[in-house]
Amino acid sequence: AAQNTAGITITGNTGQTISRHIYGQFAEHLGRGIYDGFWVDKNLPVAKQDRIRLDVVNALKKIKIPNLRWPGGCFADEYHWRDGIGPRAQRPKMVNTNWGGITEDNSFGTHEFLALCKLLDTEPYIAGNVGSGTVEEMAKWVEYLNSNSSSTVVQMRKQNGHPEPYKVSFWGVGNESWGCGGEMTPEFYAGQFRRYATYARNYPGSPLKKIASGANASDYNWTEVCMKNIPNNMMWGLSMHYYTLPTGDWGKKGSATKFSEAEYFSTMVNCLKMEELVNKHSAIMDKYDPDKKVALVVDEWGIWTDPEPGTNPGFLYQQNSLRDALIAATTLNIFNNHCDRVKMAELAQTINVLQALILTEKTKMLLTPTYHIFDMYKVHQDAKYLAIKLKSPDYEVNGKSIPAVNASASQDATGKIHISLVNLDANKPVSISTQLKDLAWSSVSGQILTSANITDINTFNQPAKVQLKNFAGAKKDGNNLVVTIPAKAVVTLELK
Ligand code: AHR
Repeated sequence: AAQNTAGITITGNTGQTISRHIYGQFAEHLGRGIYDGFWVDKNLPVAKQDRIRLDVVNALKKIKIPNLRWPGGCFADEYHWRDGIGPRAQRPKMVNTNWGGITEDNSFGTHEFLALCKLLDTEPYIAGNVGSGTVEEMAKWVEYLNSNSSSTVVQMRKQNGHPEPYKVSFWGVGNESWGCGGEMTPEFYAGQFRRYATYARNYPGSPLKKIASGANASDYNWTEVCMKNIPNNMMWGLSMHYYTLPTGDWGKKGSATKFSEAEYFSTMVNCLKMEELVNKHSAIMDKYDPDKKVALVVDEWGIWTDPEPGTNPGFLYQQNSLRDALIAATTLNIFNNHCDRVKMAELAQTINVLQALILTEKTKMLLTPTYHIFDMYKVHQDAKYLAIKLKSPDYEVNGKSIPAVNASASQDATGKIHISLVNLDANKPVSISTQLKDLAWSSVSGQILTSANITDINTFNQPAKVQLKNFAGAKKDGNNLVVTIPAKAVVTLELK
């Protein structure tokens, strides 16, 4: 196929930083995410600490996940933290009504989650129960975690093996309160937030960053009402959830592995809607918070397909293809480019659920194409954001078009410049000429993720079909950077 051309201008330091928390992850008590994902049978012959799988931990450490959101999701608004502490054999059992109706034995609770975060060297982000809990229950959970007093709950924490406060800071006040979190109106939720947040106290040395349950995709009224009714200084962030559906239809979302170019295209149209959502929610937030003190927290995002045939539909297990990698890279470029407002985001959901980084099957584990994007993009975490101007060719299918190329760039603490480039065109390579203003560099190297087919996946038999490779296709031409990127590929370049 003929080759496209694109032009990029990168204009030095903007004074903004790409928060590492944009690269966060989400793990719910859902399907095989926690149980049989992170937390396995004590007899499974893999390296473990307690029942936490260490091959999974080591893979996630490599990509430096900055935070982990737990215990849900919809599960969070039915979760009662007191059921998940103390001797495991005595913990009450409950029905996981949201996800498959299975029995939850509460063997993975607060201490197990925080032990996992410690192993991962990541910050916990706990979502408290507003939908079916009480203000007292949430207040006591925060006290249990963060206080160093001699109150009864703090004594309980000590007896349960953790003398020091955990110093949890990211705190979600409910989840999807417009839906599974209590079917609330935004006016009612904003009032509830103020009550719950008042008693979720800051204990010495542990100030909370409270995050309000935010809008469903384009529900701009939710954002408007929350921004109007919740004082800026009461919330660190306001969330928003958006999932990419291949067909756009919740009834028949589309297969994770079998799709045509037309369906790939419609998936990417839906993925790119994140740009509009972030822009419009940000514009509303700007009205009430012009200094951008409140973060927009996209704490659930990713592709949601039909479940893999033969698996429990309530478990949301789906495969992960090169298409998913292109979605991850494109979405992370959008977040990087809006780092003035988007300061935190969580991909849904880490292992064995939705757009996962890792899939497991008994003792086996594989890294998905999406994992490799997070590996490639980790260089942007906490780096200085560089502004980008991009002139992209169109990618056209059936008379409709989207920009073929998207990009983001940053400069790390050592002065290295990283540019991430995505070519969404399934057929045509693109030659990109990049002008770097006020940025000195002399050499370029890179990594690429691509594969022969847009539907290519990693399987337990062939776990390295889609993987990172060194990329030598970039050259210096004066102060310009010239690069040709294959069709359906993601490249990150390092200039120094
Ligand atoms: O990630 C799966 C579910 O999607 C979450 O539990 C919920 O918050 C959202 O609707």
